[in-house]
Amino acid sequence: MSYPYQIRSQEEYKAAYEKSIKDPEGFWASVASSFLWRKRWERVLEWNFEQPDVKWFKGAKLNITENCLDRHLGTLGNKPAIIWEPNDPEEHHRMITYRDLHHKVCQFANVLKNNGVKKGDRVCIYMGMVPELAIAVLACARIGAIHSVIFGGFSAQSIADRLKDAQALTVITCDGAYRGNKEIPLKSVIDDALVQCPFVNKVIVLTRTHTPVSMLKGRDVWWDDEIRKIETLGLNDCPAEEMDAEDPLFILYTSGSTGKPKGVVHTCGGYMVYTTYSFVNVFQYTPGDIHFCTADIGWITGHSYILYGPLGAGATTLMFEGVPTWPDAGRFWQIVDEYKVNILYTAPTAIRSLMGYGLGPVNAHNLGSLKVLGSVGEPINEEAWQWLNENIGKGKCPIVDTWWQTETGGIMISNMAGVTPAKPSYATLPLPGIDPILVDDAGKLIEGNDVSGNLCIRHPWPSIIRTTYGDHERCRTNYFATYPNLYFTGDGCYRDANGNYRITGRVDDVLNVSGHRIGTAEVENAINMHAGVIESAVVGYPHDIKGQGIYAYVVFANTHGNENLSRQDIMQTVSRIIGPIAKPDKIQFVSGLPKTRSGKIMRRILRKIAENEFEAIGDTSTLLDPLVVDDIIKHKI
Ligand code: PRX
Repeated sequence: MSYPYQIRSQEEYKAAYEKSIKDPEGFWASVASSFLWRKRWERVLEWNFEQPDVKWFKGAKLNITENCLDRHLGTLGNKPAIIWEPNDPEEHHRMITYRDLHHKVCQFANVLKNNGVKKGDRVCIYMGMVPELAIAVLACARIGAIHSVIFGGFSAQSIADRLKDAQALTVITCDGAYRGNKEIPLKSVIDDALVQCPFVNKVIVLTRTHTPVSMLKGRDVWWDDEIRKIETLGLNDCPAEEMDAEDPLFILYTSGSTGKPKGVVHTCGGYMVYTTYSFVNVFQYTPGDIHFCTADIGWITGHSYILYGPLGAGATTLMFEGVPTWPDAGRFWQIVDEYKVNILYTAPTAIRSLMGYGLGPVNAHNLGSLKVLGSVGEPINEEAWQWLNENIGKGKCPIVDTWWQTETGGIMISNMAGVTPAKPSYATLPLPGIDPILVDDAGKLIEGNDVSGNLCIRHPWPSIIRTTYGDHERCRTNYFATYPNLYFTGDGCYRDANGNYRITGRVDDVLNVSGHRIGTAEVENAINMHAGVIESAVVGYPHDIKGQGIYAYVVFANTHGNENLSRQDIMQTVSRIIGPIAKPDKIQFVSGLPKTRSGKIMRRILRKIAENEFEAIGDTSTLLDPLVVDDIIKHKI
């Protein structure tokens, strides 16, 4: 497989970038010609950001799985598509060739059809990182069902909210999942969620951990039994459903500044073109390379750079079930050594936590196969960047710092490995087709260099969010209404003297904890579910490993009891309502919250207190009760 659109030098990058801005339609039409379409587009792009209404490759027909599987069979049929490394290094890994993967996806697509799933239906997938998760995702895409993958760490309540929002009738899950030394009872969590979701009529359960589960007659079926039925029926092939370029491919829920997660919708054609294009160019993938992205498929990084991008490029993608620190902190390095990994794409939080274990676990393994390192999810601090460069890359591997979002579908601002220069803690330059600008709070364009502002994008790119599921107005107000005719990212950003971009963090009420987005309102809603809580306010604060930690100020009804027990109770409530990832790191009981006379909580003040920046609090005299601030500072934890 060769990639006619691969950029090989800085000059080529400049030329491609210029062409993409002058003639975006011509540029993307030429990239898209390398893909397999059942019918070519009538128009490359139709768009307006007011509604918003964006259509890429209008009128084109395709199926993304034909691009990710069928078209590789002739040349790459016997090459590994997925290498699967289990949680426990003692268990056997699995190598799944493109031919095997095609076969398994077709079989499971027939299972879905046999269970009544049709084009356009929403299917919720709640599984651990097993190959069948990839198979389930691709099987949905094969028949045109819209997948909604939910990360295995989310609680029953979060799942129920997402199932209701998407009105998903089918769920695919596992009996349980392994994560390090833990076993997570996924099916039992699903059972709890489904109490609130009587509309779900089919649950397909894969056996992974042999955890005992209860199966509801008529609703719950076993994955293996269903496959056997398909085999008995001889239904091994499954022709791919013909999809419109703008038919939805998937929904992925992500946090925003309100309490309710948004179902970000991506469509088939543009998402396919952009994920594959960005994968090849940012990582400079060369056929035969082994690509290891350590994310979970429950997040956008896993969708775009474990599955669709790499498979679209005919790459070998490594999928890891476990965690970086089990059985020991050398797990990533051992995997790199064992499979001769060439590209390692991970998150700053993982790097920072591994740095804490010293060089012993690193030096026990040969990392000589590595060619490219990548970082995603949050700003990578200079110390982590240097550590990665010196100790993992041994000074010879370019590091790509990739900035993007669930809503952007693919990498937007990043250096290209070995092609454009890196600068520690900078995402650097936009990819071709991406036109970033900075604006001030009033929406005025900030020109020139060595300036900071709110990061917006001026022109659509193929994998831009199309809508938020079931609520298009929410998509408009969230992303397209703050500044007219611009997509607003919610991020603050600095542009240096040479035009390099450095993302400085969110400018809204969204936290970034270990590279995961968590809305402060969502956490507050969960805390307020605890019977003893009167009111709460949540802010972020700098955390050595997680990047940001969650600091909760809580007004509690009974502060005379055991405070530690109350704290644990609140933590458990948050875990039950959202999931363990949203548990506050610190809970401070307070007598009141700083509010304006109109009753608005002054989060800025709470943020400064959490950051120990007491001098920066400023004037508090206009508050309803200025004394609460002194009281909060006095009892700060
Ligand atoms: O604040 C930015 C941060 O993560 C946010 C997007 O989160 P999510 O949709 O969960 O997607 C994460 C993986 C793509 C952004 O608004 N972010 C992501 N990558 C970077 C980053 N901040 C700085 N540098 C990055 N490389």
